[in-house]
Amino acid sequence: MKIKNICCIGAGYVGGPTMSVIADKCPNIRVEVVDLNHKRINDWNDDNFDNLPIYEPGLDLVVKRTRNKNLFFMTDVNSAIEKADMIFISVNTPTKLYGKGKGMASDLKYVELCARQIAKVAKSDKIIVEKSTLPVRTADTIKKILENTGNGLKFQILSNPEFLAEGTAIEDLMNPDRILIGGMKNKEGKAAIQSLVDIYSNWVPKDKILTTNVWSSELSKLTANAFLAQRVSSINSISELCESTGAEINELAKAVGADSRIGNKFLNASVGFGGSCFQKDILNLVYIARSYGLDSVADYWEQVIILNDHQKKRFSDIIVKTLFNTVSGKKITLFGWAFKKNTNDSRESPAINVADALLDEQANLIVLDPKVKSSQIYSDLDNLKTRSSDKNKSLLRFESDPYKASKGSHAIAVLTDWDEFIEYDWVKIYHNMEKPAFIFDGRKILDRGKLQKIGFEIFTIGYV
Ligand code: NAD
Ligand code: UGA
Repeated sequence: MKIKNICCIGAGYVGGPTMSVIADKCPNIRVEVVDLNHKRINDWNDDNFDNLPIYEPGLDLVVKRTRNKNLFFMTDVNSAIEKADMIFISVNTPTKLYGKGKGMASDLKYVELCARQIAKVAKSDKIIVEKSTLPVRTADTIKKILENTGNGLKFQILSNPEFLAEGTAIEDLMNPDRILIGGMKNKEGKAAIQSLVDIYSNWVPKDKILTTNVWSSELSKLTANAFLAQRVSSINSISELCESTGAEINELAKAVGADSRIGNKFLNASVGFGGSCFQKDILNLVYIARSYGLDSVADYWEQVIILNDHQKKRFSDIIVKTLFNTVSGKKITLFGWAFKKNTNDSRESPAINVADALLDEQANLIVLDPKVKSSQIYSDLDNLKTRSSDKNKSLLRFESDPYKASKGSHAIAVLTDWDEFIEYDWVKIYHNMEKPAFIFDGRKILDRGKLQKIGFEIFTIGYV
């Protein structure tokens, strides 16, 4: 089937950028991105491209080229479903917070709602594409709902997981390492796979488009995220050993990564990995393994999360210990709140845990982040429910000027790897601070030698 109309349900970090690029590369396809969240859709339609709901380098240019030409952001889900030949489900699949599987399994209620709505509204056969990250065999659930509640129409379900990373989403979408499409191996399934292959072939070389059965595709996505997170936990575990032995983590990562079998990417020790997916997807993998009785498999992957929690906790412990075992009433400035640079996303950011631990010790925090809004920072802390919202407001302040933010501080903790932190006038910052002036670099981005010469006491992850 030649696809002319696409609907994408979910205008978030995946749906928005992914559909913008498809619209850009396929001018003959009309792409409608729908969401229940009116504010989000209004922001996607804002005349000022600085107000798009997602910050991604290059995204504004792609949206400028396509919006209201063949890319439309709207809240009318039913009309978009009705028109579409192909529907991408790009809704959130967070960790379940209630009932069976609480704290581990993926909550599929939003995916199920999409399937039910499609079944109710559709008046013609459609190809349904799982873009969200889903537990293996979810396509079965979607198929059952569509077949049992639909109007006797034919639906093909494909799995087409997204591998973009935030901060580099546009680059990743324009030049993906691979596109993965899973489908049924029967005649109709193969035809549906070909329809999606034809879309990606507009800009992705054929040899990078992999087709598999549905279950391999669903499980590959969870596995890829688990492997990536595992590398971060592996290097973070060694960073602690470096701090005890005098081995230096960057020298070590270079030496280890030079082995072409290991490779040099994703070996950057840090205060811990964050983001909306690594933890959620590994917890889900662990849950699935346990549900098949595979406890050794589950225990193996759970360790990646345990190590990450340890890394975040030990970073805040180091701050307290270094500041003479008390931070009560002391001003500590946090540089960075986003879970990585070049995004405004702070979901599961290690900054949240570090801040929470320091607030427990009654520190006064000043937070600076180039893209995360203060309302988001307060809401991240309030969601932990460790203390009242009023208490969080009284102990933490947002500041956009680095020199004002660090004035009178006892310590600065670098929690996100924003490039601009490196360029700050560190001499000026030093003179403004209480002495001894401490820096805790959780991202290894600052020049230790230079800062020590200025007079700072500096702790860097993975260094003595
Ligand atoms: P998100 O929360 O940013 O966006 C999801 C959107 O779906 C929200 O705006 C929500 O309002 C909307 N939505 C939920 N139910 C809906 C419904 N029934 N009808 C219409 N809209 C609905 O989430 P995200 O970060 O874009 O992630 C989406 C999926 O993609 C997840 O499964 C995630 O694991 C996966 N993923 C995310 C990334 C990433 O970098 N964020 C990368 C790869 C894969
Ligand atoms: C990750 C994957 O890289 C994507 O392929 C995947 O599509 C996505 O998850 C998803 O499924 O959501 P993302 O979380 O956006 O992408 O960003 P990453 O670059 O993977 O970084 C994740 C976290 O690990 C960040 O906190 C980052 O700072 C940290 N990290 C990464 C390290 O601490 N060290 C490294 O060497 C690499």
